[in-house]
Amino acid sequence: MESNQNQGDYFVIKAKDNGVQVIGLTRGHDTKFHHTEKLDKGEVMIAQFTEHTSAIKIRGKAVIMTRFGVVDTQE
Ligand code: TRP
Repeated sequence: MESNQNQGDYFVIKAKDNGVQVIGLTRGHDTKFHHTEKLDKGEVMIAQFTEHTSAIKIRGKAVIMTRFGVVDTQE
């Protein structure tokens, strides 16, 4: 069960500015911040949704790529 939940979708975040924050939100009844990753301009983070992470929040200028398409936080 846990191993299946570790195979969540991947997403890619490319920072377009310094100090972009990628915030992981907990899965389950409580929806809380559990991790904040800071990216500087040009840095790329590749991550998955997991049994611990059901949502992410992005602060700052970035391009987010998922299987649903590409989103730019500035548009
Ligand atoms: N320990 C976290 C987890 O397994 C690591 C992680 C995965 C994460 N995806 C993330 C942290 C997205 C922040 C954002 O869920």
